[in-house]
Amino acid sequence: MVKQGITTAAPAIAPDGGAGPLDRLGRPMRDLRVSVTDRCNFRCPYCMPGEVFGRDFVFLRSDEVLRFEEITRVVRVAAGLGVTKIRLTGGEPLLRRQIEKLVMMIAAVDGIETALTTNGSLLVGKARALKEAGLGRVTVSLDSLDNTVFQAMNGVGFPVERVLEGIAAAAEAGFGPIKVNVVVKRNINDRSVLDMARFGRENGHTVRFIEFMDVGATNGWRLDDVVPAAEILEAIDAVFPLEAVPADYPGEVARRYRYRDGGGEIGLIASVSQPFCRTCTRARLTADGNLFTCLFATAGHDLRAVLRATEDDAELSALLARVWRARGDRYSEERSSLTSAGKRIEMSYVGG
Ligand code: GTP
Ligand code: 5AD
Ligand code: SF4
Ligand code: SF4
Repeated sequence: MVKQGITTAAPAIAPDGGAGPLDRLGRPMRDLRVSVTDRCNFRCPYCMPGEVFGRDFVFLRSDEVLRFEEITRVVRVAAGLGVTKIRLTGGEPLLRRQIEKLVMMIAAVDGIETALTTNGSLLVGKARALKEAGLGRVTVSLDSLDNTVFQAMNGVGFPVERVLEGIAAAAEAGFGPIKVNVVVKRNINDRSVLDMARFGRENGHTVRFIEFMDVGATNGWRLDDVVPAAEILEAIDAVFPLEAVPADYPGEVARRYRYRDGGGEIGLIASVSQPFCRTCTRARLTADGNLFTCLFATAGHDLRAVLRATEDDAELSALLARVWRARGDRYSEERSSLTSAGKRIEMSYVGG
């Protein structure tokens, strides 16, 4: 455990009653999303378009990437500042060798629950080891059940069947109910929405539909390609009637709805049409140790230099607290007034 009292902060009472620093908009830090690699075996055009992330693309070298001990140290310090949830992301986190070892190290930190977001391609071989390592939850990205549509959405022709097997393996390993993330793009996979809803109902998974976002600078985002969550809700509700459910926890990204017939629930992540910055408690750590306070930030804070320069957790904690207190990000709320994509960081680098 990190010693108490090592931050320079005056004691803060967060809106949720927890401890730790508050940012400029009064938001506490509760979730830390940790990208364990910037590499992925998919090339989803909305995230890592193949034309940009081709053979010549320079990914992080292994000496640039944080070691498991370094990540765990950040997690321990973050826990001391009020973080309760660690989500491992990528790129594709299961590409990181011995990821289950990291899971075990993080799960052992007091007060931390763990989750992982994966494309599911390697889950068949990993699900059991992840469960045994103490991973709490698994979220799988799957944009369509139609193989042709899915293969176009993942950019490498990966067969949908293998992801379905991965989801089944995760359920078998005891991760159910599993959240399944679907990024919806107009005229690409919007016709898959009902199929995905049905799939969730039939298998006891919570399917969450995500509006296509203008994250990064390479995915060719256009507002016309976004299918607003309200439209998705209407389409599903017309076939399987739904009712709203209160959020699971303060600051939950997805709006929850349940089927009136008891067939489970869905989520809608409306980051474009109904931004949720006001309650955003998320910090993001890149694989090479940069801390970002927003998905749309253009600059991070180099924690690796501090991690490698000092053994003093108090110094690291003070840095984290200082960065968090200076945070005023609310990009999605401001989106309409911002036009340039600038040199925004890519989602595969900062983590989904
Ligand atoms: P739960 O713990 O299951 O509630 O997970 P989560 O919804 O926080 O995490 P998940 O990785 O499943 O997030 C789903 C998607 O929501 C991400 O892949 C992003 O597309 C989007 N998202 C998550 N966090 C943010 C955020 O802070 N800002 C924006 N704009 N989008 C986000
Ligand atoms: N818009 C919305 N979500 C995205 N993701 C990646 N790129 C985008 C985007 N442009 C999210 C998806 C995927 C996760 C890893 O990252 O939810 O499931
Ligand atoms: Fe890989 Fe996920 Fe990005 Fe697709 S969305 S390219 S699976 S990191
Ligand atoms: Fe949080 Fe930034 Fe997303 Fe707003 S845009 S919800 S501040 S990560």
